[in-house]
Amino acid sequence: MRIISLLLMCWSVAPMWRLSSLASPPNVMGVFVKARTETLLTLEWTKMNNFSYILRYSNGTETPLTVSADGSVLRYTVSSLSPGTKYTFVLYAVFKGVKHSAFNFTAVTSPSNVASVSVKARSETALTFEWSKVKNNSVYTYILRQSNRSDVHTPMYWGGSTATHTVSSLSPGTKYAFTLYTVFGGERSSGYNFSAATMPLNVASVNVTQRFANRLELSWEEVKSNNISYILRHGSKAETTIAALEKSSVMTHTVSSLSPGTRYNFTLYTVFEGVRSRGLTFSSVTASLTVTGLRCEHLSGGNALALVWDAPSGQWTGVEVQMKGRNPQYSNGTRLEFHDLHPALWYDVTLKLCSGDVKSAPVSISCQTDPRGVIAGVILALLFMVFLICLGFVYHRQSVLNRKTQSDLHANQTSSQGAEEGACNAPVLAKQQSSDSRKHLGQRLNKKKSVKPTQENPYSNPSTPSHQ
Ligand SMILES: *[C@@H]1O[C@H](CO)[C@@H](O)[C@H](O)[C@H]1NC(C)=O
Ligand SMILES: *[C@@H]1O[C@H](CO)[C@@H](O)[C@H](O)[C@H]1NC(C)=O
Ligand SMILES: *[C@@H]1O[C@H](CO)[C@@H](O)[C@H](O)[C@H]1NC(C)=O
Ligand SMILES: *[C@@H]1O[C@H](CO)[C@@H](O)[C@H](O)[C@H]1NC(C)=O
Ligand SMILES: *[C@@H]1O[C@H](CO)[C@@H](O)[C@H](O)[C@H]1NC(C)=O
Ligand SMILES: *[C@@H]1O[C@H](CO)[C@@H](O)[C@H](O)[C@H]1NC(C)=O
Ligand SMILES: *[C@@H]1O[C@H](CO)[C@@H](O)[C@H](O)[C@H]1NC(C)=O
Ligand SMILES: *[C@@H]1O[C@H](CO)[C@@H](O)[C@H](O)[C@H]1NC(C)=O
Ligand SMILES: *[C@@H]1O[C@H](CO)[C@@H](O)[C@H](O)[C@H]1NC(C)=O
Ligand SMILES: *[C@@H]1O[C@H](CO)[C@@H](O)[C@H](O)[C@H]1NC(C)=O
Repeated sequence: MRIISLLLMCWSVAPMWRLSSLASPPNVMGVFVKARTETLLTLEWTKMNNFSYILRYSNGTETPLTVSADGSVLRYTVSSLSPGTKYTFVLYAVFKGVKHSAFNFTAVTSPSNVASVSVKARSETALTFEWSKVKNNSVYTYILRQSNRSDVHTPMYWGGSTATHTVSSLSPGTKYAFTLYTVFGGERSSGYNFSAATMPLNVASVNVTQRFANRLELSWEEVKSNNISYILRHGSKAETTIAALEKSSVMTHTVSSLSPGTRYNFTLYTVFEGVRSRGLTFSSVTASLTVTGLRCEHLSGGNALALVWDAPSGQWTGVEVQMKGRNPQYSNGTRLEFHDLHPALWYDVTLKLCSGDVKSAPVSISCQTDPRGVIAGVILALLFMVFLICLGFVYHRQSVLNRKTQSDLHANQTSSQGAEEGACNAPVLAKQQSSDSRKHLGQRLNKKKSVKPTQENPYSNPSTPSHQ
């Protein structure tokens, strides 16, 4: 009874010897798994003289072993096994065809690696990995090792066919190497190596440094990281990859083929190892190509004109101004002068706003040079002509008078006086005439005053003026 219970105790311990009908107990035999792969198990045990060996598989198949010997150590490799499987073997020591002793032991093959690991979620400081469970079986556990860090046993999620694990406290825009081990029966798989990059940081801000009608020049501070590139997404349209500059801290990029006066949405991504940052979204308006406030200004003398316009919004490189019949002129300001013109004339001017290599539709204006000089000149000229005419008359009259005095001293004065009054109203003469007429008027008044007394006073001497 005691012996039986002792035997049972012994039977419950593996490895152990099951004592069969042995005349003499053999030497203690221990089996070790010397090497292990997913399909192979190399077993070693200590040699017992004059014994042969039979291996019994858990499915009942018994195979006589052809062992290789290394001194007192015997070795046998079991092949065609399944990965990550626990096998129960019995090794029999056979002497003269009789199983003398049996050694029960278990051994596991190496588990398979995971087929692949994908990044399920990513941030600047964390990575969440996901993988399909080996053999869709939750008996396998996993160990994730980040290079240069200690192992992390990943938590298991029962029930699903995928496992996930999050690694945190990482740096942005950095590539990390990992090894994921499958664990079964205390044994690790060979390790699945993979690497993953954290999300790079966005650029801090984007400045629109130049705004043209058909293009926008952008600039931004480089993200301080190695192997960075950029992707600019233009609205929902195509994306442009922009290589980072070496040894430069400020990037510039020109977006071309835009339309004037249009708002555009952009998203700028920083890219590291194919991983995009969250993206910085901004919008900007291209320069408008409309000239406003176009007007003319007179310049003194009327021999020049100034064309003035309002500075258009946005970046414009210049203005092409063409006066009809002249070569086009260019200005980068808001004013252009034309010289060598004639006063009081109309000139047609056409203006085109240039923004980069785009020109606006032409805007025309008709400008008149200052006419005041011409009017004053005409008046002066007229006055001068009148003066000359009068001068001529005065001279003429003088010569006529002289001739009359010489030829006929008793000539009638009235005729020449009448001629004078009708032809000339020059101030000089007018004065003379007015004094004359006043004299005549006075004479007339005197006459009127003296008429009555003549009627009352018959003794007064009536003197009849010749011209009444
Ligand atoms: C050893 O294995 C054999 C065959 O599988 C089995 O019959 C026996 O009970 C085992 N012995 C022990 C002690 O586990
Ligand atoms: C083992 O076999 C050899 C011959 O093959 C023999 O000489 C030897 O005595 C045997 N040993 C034992 C312990 O039986
Ligand atoms: C038992 O398993 C071994 C190893 O896997 C194999 O070689 C053998 O054919 C199997 N026997 C049966 C009957 O399945
Ligand atoms: C994995 O196993 C679960 C049950 O454990 C099952 O629902 C699922 O369909 C299996 N998936 C695959 C891919 O075999
Ligand atoms: C990891 O260790 C290797 C060598 O031990 C070293 O060259 C490398 O710089 C380390 N990497 C990190 C991220 O610390
Ligand atoms: C996996 O990476 C380790 C170093 O981290 C290396 O020793 C090993 O050879 C790699 N395995 C494979 C299959 O490349
Ligand atoms: C962008 O504009 C801000 C404010 O005007 C300025 O401080 C910054 O240096 C500019 N950055 C670049 C890259 O031009
Ligand atoms: C940058 O990328 C190139 C090619 O992908 C690689 O050879 C190089 O080691 C990388 N440099 C850094 C600092 O990651
Ligand atoms: C640009 O973005 C604004 C909102 O940020 C949106 O209202 C507008 O429709 C967008 N424009 C285009 C052309 O996508
Ligand atoms: C306009 O052009 C003149 C000469 O070409 C140059 O000296 C001046 O700096 C320019 N002005 C602007 C605002 O570009």
